[in-house]
Amino acid sequence: MAISCKCLIILHIIMNVLVLGSGGREHVFVWKLAQSALVDKLFVAPGNAGTSSVCTNVDLKILDFKGIADFCLSNNIDVIIPGSEDPLVAGIADYFSGNDKLNHIFVLGPNKEAAQLEGSKDYAKQFLIENNIPTAQYQTFTSDNIAAAKQYVRTKTAPYVLKADGLAAGKGVVIAQNLIEADATLDDMLLNSKFGAAGNSVVIEDFLDGIEFSVFVLCDGENYVLLPEAKDYKRIGEGDTGLNTGGMGAVSPVPFADKALMDKVVEQIIEPTMHGLKRRNIQYVGFIFFGLINCNGQPKVIEYNVRMGDPETEVVFPRIKNDFGEMVDFCRNKRLIDANIEFESKVCTTIFAVSGGYPEDYEKGKRMTISLALQTEMVFHAGTQKSDNDILTNGGRVVALSAFGNTIADALKHSYQNVAEIKFDGMYYRKDIGKDLLNN
Ligand code: AMP
Ligand code: GLY
Repeated sequence: MAISCKCLIILHIIMNVLVLGSGGREHVFVWKLAQSALVDKLFVAPGNAGTSSVCTNVDLKILDFKGIADFCLSNNIDVIIPGSEDPLVAGIADYFSGNDKLNHIFVLGPNKEAAQLEGSKDYAKQFLIENNIPTAQYQTFTSDNIAAAKQYVRTKTAPYVLKADGLAAGKGVVIAQNLIEADATLDDMLLNSKFGAAGNSVVIEDFLDGIEFSVFVLCDGENYVLLPEAKDYKRIGEGDTGLNTGGMGAVSPVPFADKALMDKVVEQIIEPTMHGLKRRNIQYVGFIFFGLINCNGQPKVIEYNVRMGDPETEVVFPRIKNDFGEMVDFCRNKRLIDANIEFESKVCTTIFAVSGGYPEDYEKGKRMTISLALQTEMVFHAGTQKSDNDILTNGGRVVALSAFGNTIADALKHSYQNVAEIKFDGMYYRKDIGKDLLNN
């Protein structure tokens, strides 16, 4: 019997996939891809102790494009999924699309130009203003006009928000409480190269007061789908105090991101971003992470990231009911419009267990034990590595414990029960993740 045309069109092709990175986000990606009907061989480079239990870890550096390309050709890789921004900002998508021998390999991420949305704060601000997207007012300065920068700061009121233009490993934003601190930061960034080349230009912007939340879309170059939103807890200390970290925990969905707020996010932020990209002739492929702040019911953009968030992925992806391999295949065929994305309505929370001392100096190589009770739970590794039969800590953020619940309180109870089943010397975690949302 002849197969109908429609059947052929919806036929997906089995893929071999390489994920790049070694964090909790990448563990979630391979965990989800391992459940896909469309993924055959699955690799992660370099991965961690957790990823090695779901796929094959490969000893490759994420910026070694030549090494990655050689590996892809010898292993018939069809799709590369970069987890972090670094390979994207360095142009991994262009490296593959611009080479006849590599351009059959699909990179789920934007090209170098579009990655500037994260790679350059000035590029992102210009883009936001050009497209009338709500964001803080700003001006950009270089060392040639540091006097003007100090003058501009004096036209504002404290606190002052100073941002190194380029990638600075999450440390490039300083919120100065007074003019002395602001001047010293400008000197550090523009004159003393304290932030390296990232600080050659500085964006000074108005301070926005409100609650931050994270919104994500996946794009195929033509269309996008909205993914579940999340709230991240960035500070090391309880009550949102102390130094910034990569993220100590997360919750999805976010109760205050109700329909009224999300409608504004879509109409005033996501849609204009998509139109703006098209106007710049950018066919955006991959994730966009909108770092937003809710200022009395008005969402504003704090930043764009060209990837998923971490630890947001640990709560967003468990809530996506779809086959991730199929979503990726829809992306590479520019058919995301056909993907019927469905979310789990339950709440998902995650708690990060981190090394004592993080985000400042901390020791690695501590033996981690995970109780058998967690065998069927969502345990996403970040800074871990295998050593014979042991799992050793290998980073600041070590492991994220994600769990579902019917309410935020239920999910948190479940996540915290799971944290209690993990042990390593010096382990620390915040005990107040999600507490601010409980009465919402
Ligand atoms: P960014 O790297 O741009 O996301 O900034 C890091 C963090 O600094 C954000 O998550 C906010 O907590 C804070 N931040 C950045 N820009 C502003 C702003 N304009 N007003 C208030 N806080 C900000
Ligand atoms: N959780 C914030 C980030 O991934 O940048």
